[in-house]
Amino acid sequence: MKRAALTLLVVGALYPATSAQQPASSPTVTFTKDVAPILQKSCQNCHRAGAIAPMSLLTYQDVRPWARSIKSKVVAREMPPWYIDRHIGITKFKDDPSLTDAEIATITKWVDSGAPQGNPADMPKPRVFADVDKWHIGKPDMIVSLPKPYELRANGPDEFYDADVDPEFTEDMYIAAVETKPEAYSFKVVHHATANMIEDEEEDPVGFFFNEYALGKNGDIFPENSGRLIKAGSKIHFNLHLHPSGEKALVNVSIGFKLYPKGQVPKYVAFTQHMGDNTDLDIPPGEVARTDGYFRLPKPAVISAFQPHMHNRGKAQCMEAIYPDIRPDSARPGPARTETLSCVSNYQFGWHITYPYADDVQPILPAGTIIHITAWHDNTPANKYNPNPRNWVGYGQRTIDEMSFAWVSLFYIDEADYQQRVEARKKTHE
Ligand code: HEC
Repeated sequence: MKRAALTLLVVGALYPATSAQQPASSPTVTFTKDVAPILQKSCQNCHRAGAIAPMSLLTYQDVRPWARSIKSKVVAREMPPWYIDRHIGITKFKDDPSLTDAEIATITKWVDSGAPQGNPADMPKPRVFADVDKWHIGKPDMIVSLPKPYELRANGPDEFYDADVDPEFTEDMYIAAVETKPEAYSFKVVHHATANMIEDEEEDPVGFFFNEYALGKNGDIFPENSGRLIKAGSKIHFNLHLHPSGEKALVNVSIGFKLYPKGQVPKYVAFTQHMGDNTDLDIPPGEVARTDGYFRLPKPAVISAFQPHMHNRGKAQCMEAIYPDIRPDSARPGPARTETLSCVSNYQFGWHITYPYADDVQPILPAGTIIHITAWHDNTPANKYNPNPRNWVGYGQRTIDEMSFAWVSLFYIDEADYQQRVEARKKTHE
């Protein structure tokens, strides 16, 4: 009898103990321990006072009211801004800020369990932001701005402003990185700013494309051993596309350079090229329209970055390589080999992001490869950026017109270099 009672007692004592242990195997997700480190790493650079995002996400008090909205933005992968398709083509990039599936699961679990604060002692040390954070390329060695700000009216149609600046470059320079950006108070009104380099005003008064800023864009950092040449005496031509915001604005933009040390000439000269332009756009009202454009590589090339360019109706864009025939003399050359390099499948008009390929996956393409750019424009009411789904839309410079091309960063290499790189790449991927 005694024994049986004892057994019962033991079982009774064990049961509550087991159930009390259960939470330990699925611990509560808290703000201070689990969520704050993710926000520090991936959100706060923009979500803090004075930066471009609408609200600060530094403290629990800042974040709590936004919990539901944060969950929906991270689950839809709309935040942080990074819209490259993770399932097609090349998926490895430099400075990829996007969240992992595990981080998204942590945020989701935290919001679904009531967004608890947790133990304040678990809070990580605040992240320290320097002012240079404003430059994605790091602190520039040289900055060129408009000599005097442009005064933009409070209301009215978009404006285009052109200005030539002579920075008085006295010697040739090679640059390792470049970024164009509005000065703080101009962020709200600058739709885009391009900087062209004019080497010879008489021969070519417009110059050639050098760099572009558009809302949300980061900078162009050229691959190791490659740089762009700025010739002594070059002038910079700025072209600003401005969108009045309801308040008068004094607009200025700057272009910042990181330079190669004096006397050092990089082996490869990199540049950024419009590819796949198509000015014959035909986007009927209420429809999703597809446009194709092409660019032929005259020499073997290494592609270092991809950035789709469309306007409000932009929905998606893909970049594909159509390889040259391997047996051009054959009577039956067979189908051309094609390969999708990248797609942005959820294009967001507000974010013109350059997607820089990681060094070990940059496409190395033979001479004669055709870069095929396919763009889709969404002119239906489902597109929240669509100003009017009842209008036919064609090509044009204004925000309400459309465009279709990609900015592609690359450098050309010679045939021997091409063969060598292809062999080396094969080895790393064996
Ligand atoms: C590169 C800058 C940047 C980064 C990084 C960034 N955001 Fe944002 N965020 C913005 C801007 C600008 C907006 C407002 C415009 C927009 O929605 O595109 C915004 C909007 C939002 C909104 C919607 C606010 C509203 O008014 O409804 C949420 C929620 C949000 N961000 C959460 C996050 C979270 C969470 C992260 C990190 C995981 C993050 N953001 C990273 C710039 C950024």
